[in-house]
Amino acid sequence: MILVTGGAGFIGANFVLDWLAQSQEPVINFDKLTYAGNLNNLTSLREDARHIFVQADINDGDILKQLLQTHQPRAIVHFAAESHVDRSIHGPAAFIETNVNGTFSLLEAVRAYWQNLEDDKKAAFRFLHVSTDEVYGSLEANDPPFTETTAYAPNSPYSASKAASDHLVRAYHHTYGLPTLTTNCSNNYGPLHFPEKLIPLVITNARAGKDLPIYGDGSQVRDWLYVSDHCAAIRRVLEAGRPGETYNIGGWNEKTNLNVVHSICDLLNELQAKPTGSYRDQIRHVKDRPGHDKRYAIDARKIERELGWKPAESFETGLRKTVSWYLANDAWTAQVLSGEYKNWVNLQYQEKN
Ligand code: NAD
Ligand code: DAU
Repeated sequence: MILVTGGAGFIGANFVLDWLAQSQEPVINFDKLTYAGNLNNLTSLREDARHIFVQADINDGDILKQLLQTHQPRAIVHFAAESHVDRSIHGPAAFIETNVNGTFSLLEAVRAYWQNLEDDKKAAFRFLHVSTDEVYGSLEANDPPFTETTAYAPNSPYSASKAASDHLVRAYHHTYGLPTLTTNCSNNYGPLHFPEKLIPLVITNARAGKDLPIYGDGSQVRDWLYVSDHCAAIRRVLEAGRPGETYNIGGWNEKTNLNVVHSICDLLNELQAKPTGSYRDQIRHVKDRPGHDKRYAIDARKIERELGWKPAESFETGLRKTVSWYLANDAWTAQVLSGEYKNWVNLQYQEKN
């Protein structure tokens, strides 16, 4: 049994689905269901007894304590977070509450549980903290990519809150000996991605005939990783990572935002052509994001060298899969855009569990 936090969100849901496709080991999926949590992501698991869904906040230490005692998980994979940089600029409080206080509350509950395990279970236990490359700050065009020893320099309230959580995880290993693993990953994309983030927003807006907003001149660079590659990396770190270590995960896919949006438009033109013109005609340059980081890039050689992981998808193959998924899953997007995913769908699911 493993316990996953945030397993109704984008990466968490992909991870839970991948995990149960490859293993018989059950998963407790612990998620508050904020705006980003969507049980429609997990409909294929509705009748699956290996998936135990619990709607709760990681700040709720009592529920965590009770769940840990009842189910005795051998590992925690911690995805739950506020994840959107723009939201952190408009309202940072929720980011401190979940990413900092929530991770602290989770670590405290896990420490109390772990300390009382028998010696062999204690040694085998793992706490895997899923973090981001944004903690390292921003690179100039000619800087080498971030390594695991790059100094932290977070620039947004989001990345500062994630940096704080990384430091707490590090301290729990150093001080208490909790067997922690931290992964710092670059930008993910793929199925189930909430359409507030660049790639799903552009796919969704393009098809709806809306503007495709590019912040500033669109020259900022992100290093894109297909979500199932991230899930495979996390499974591998959980299996063979060394406690106390951090692992950078990335796709070796540096692209400017403008380049990403052009690629999406061209794929849509190919797969579902507009009656007239090109989807590129909908591109609009808008006001830049305050404090916008110029460039992220991950050096993923440590995880490849030590654990043998490398991405299976190129940006071209991953983006084609992603656009095709959105074209084939209009109902998922429609329920997100209408807000319906927050109403009857969730309630109906909870009643069954
Ligand atoms: P997401 O916003 O799609 O999902 C977050 C999930 O956490 C949601 O299901 C939400 O309901 C849940 N949640 C939020 N607050 C909670 C709380 N207080 N208690 C319990 N559950 C709560 O996020 P994502 O994009 O899937 O990211 C998952 C993790 O991966 C985050 O920690 C993020 O920092 C990290 N990460 C994301 C990316 C990316 O490109 N998306 C890249 C690197 C790292
Ligand atoms: O690098 C990892 C991070 O990637 C994760 O830790 C975050 O959780 C995840 O949200 C993502 O952060 P970004 O800010 O890079 O992702 P976003 O999709 O919001 O933006 C990607 C780039 O596109 C960024 O440079 C801002 C730009 N952008 C974004 C949006 C939503 C636009 O130009 N227009 C837009 O409308």
